[in-house]
Amino acid sequence: MQIIKTIDELRSWRKSVGKVAFVPTMGNLHAGHLALVREAKKHADTVVVSIFVNPLQFGQGEDFAAYPRTLQADAEKLEQAGVAVLFAPSDKELYPNTVQAFNVEPSALQNELEGKFRPGHFRGVATVVLKLFNIVEPQIACFGKKDFQQLVVIQQMVAELNVNIHIIPVDTGRAEDGLALSSRNGYLTDNERQQAPQLYAVLCHMKNELQKGRRDFSVLENQATETLNNQGWQTDYVEIRRRADLSHARPDDTQLIILAAAKLGKPRLIDNLEVDL
Ligand code: PAF
Repeated sequence: MQIIKTIDELRSWRKSVGKVAFVPTMGNLHAGHLALVREAKKHADTVVVSIFVNPLQFGQGEDFAAYPRTLQADAEKLEQAGVAVLFAPSDKELYPNTVQAFNVEPSALQNELEGKFRPGHFRGVATVVLKLFNIVEPQIACFGKKDFQQLVVIQQMVAELNVNIHIIPVDTGRAEDGLALSSRNGYLTDNERQQAPQLYAVLCHMKNELQKGRRDFSVLENQATETLNNQGWQTDYVEIRRRADLSHARPDDTQLIILAAAKLGKPRLIDNLEVDL
């Protein structure tokens, strides 16, 4: 596996290969990322993974400085997974100007759900992803469903800006107790880690209720919030939305998704669960 740190070098390597599948990441790789790589390999012989902790998508007071940077260990995992190129640019390489003047402005969805609690986050995500797409020029790119709103924002960006890249959604990897795999799980204390699957359990309970026929969405959302808060979480949101575009769910919808974010102590976890009715 080649480790490439500059845009020029990546571009000159890119000229020598045909079809590329791409997995953008912020590193600190876990089994969920490796599932993205496995999916990417189904679509192209050559897989490029990027590792870049993108300052643009972190708000003030968020964990940009503390975000785990584990390049050496990540590179070993990617090498074993058969990745052709690890693209790991510096902040200066991707953002040579102190201010990024041109940004991708997502739809109003950027201000809902995660966006309500992380203003500017999806603008930062969309901007860096488009930059990476322009550098790597993949035919395929894989994104995890764990960050479902991010996936929808990227799908909308690709459709509306006519970006010629096929986006492949990949199912969320989970620990045996149901906790969604995330780099941020590393922030959990032992006790919090024991408690963390409660978030998924609440989503599963809601799914069950929906499948039994309940359509009182806001009652279900409030009950779930109360359950989590009673268990010691600080819930930011639990919402039932339409899966295709994350607009508000209606009683006759058949493809829904329940999305949630809550803090357990300091760490803030997000999760979601698809529901077919
Ligand atoms: O999902 C992530 O790890 C990041 O948001 C991404 C897509 C790599 C952009 O920085």
